Amino acid sequence: MRRLFPAPAGPDLDDDVLAAAYRLPPGRALRVDFVVSLDGSISVDGRSAGLGSPGDRRVFRVLRALADVVLVGHGTAAAEGYGPVGGDSPVARLRARLGRPPALPIAVVSRRASLAPGDRLAAAPTLLVTCAAADAGRRAELAGAGVTVLVCGDDDVDLPTALDALADRGLAQVTCEGGPQLLRAALAAGVVDELDLTIAPALVGGAARLLDAAPGGPGEDTVVRPELRQVLEEDGVLFTRYALPRRT
Ligand SMILES: NC(=O)c1ccc[n+]([C@@H]2O[C@H](COP(=O)([O-])OP(=O)(O)OC[C@H]3O[C@@H](n4cnc5c(N)ncnc54)[C@H](OP(=O)(O)O)[C@@H]3O)[C@@H](O)[C@H]2O)c1
Repeated sequence: MRRLFPAPAGPDLDDDVLAAAYRLPPGRALRVDFVVSLDGSISVDGRSAGLGSPGDRRVFRVLRALADVVLVGHGTAAAEGYGPVGGDSPVARLRARLGRPPALPIAVVSRRASLAPGDRLAAAPTLLVTCAAADAGRRAELAGAGVTVLVCGDDDVDLPTALDALADRGLAQVTCEGGPQLLRAALAAGVVDELDLTIAPALVGGAARLLDAAPGGPGEDTVVRPELRQVLEEDGVLFTRYALPRRT
């Protein structure tokens, strides 16, 4: 993997250089990580793996290694078969090498508290980010199984409140792994600091897009204009970092 912008480097960036290329300054941040095709599609047959590449998996691992917590919509956690991150996994090993605790908590966002008791994520250190309207019995059952249940909002999840609650627990640097509904809500709430898009050289078509509707809040300019900060490349795949102006 090589760096094209801002300062060309490579051609074989090692893991330490890659981690440095993605490290955030200390403090709170929400970065969003997606792999997309050239036409903005985010999945092939319902999963992102069809757009993946060795470089994408490597950047995905680095972003997990640098994060305090992964934030993910329940739809993505279910579609992609999310499980706990720790043990002897490549991410845990990379985290240990970077001086981080090997286990990485996953925070599942679900208005309806859809995480099923018995699911392999339904245990510590998983967090559930939900709202007061979610079934109280389900919330209690998940809490009893060791899940940290964060009630953030009444009828819907309030993402700024959720990020405050995570930061209060020392989970300040958040990597959001989608999906599109969660991305749109985070953009509408103005809480996204960075978009890390892997652009795969593929044309896919279909309805599953990065955004299925305008991201602005009511009455606002709906076009968000991120600023390019970095481009890496490997095998024709582009790995970009874009900064967004925070509105909250
Ligand atoms: N290419 C990529 O990098 C990438 C990344 C992520 C996902 N994907 C793809 O995207 C697809 C999944 O999409 P999806 O539409 O199901 O996306 P999603 O945003 O992961 O999940 C939607 C569900 O998550 C919960 N949720 C999301 N945002 C919420 C919010 N602001 N407040 C409360 N709850 C919220 C809700 O769960 P409840 O219904 O339980 O309330 C909602 O039904 C999969 O095919 C996956 O492969 C691709």
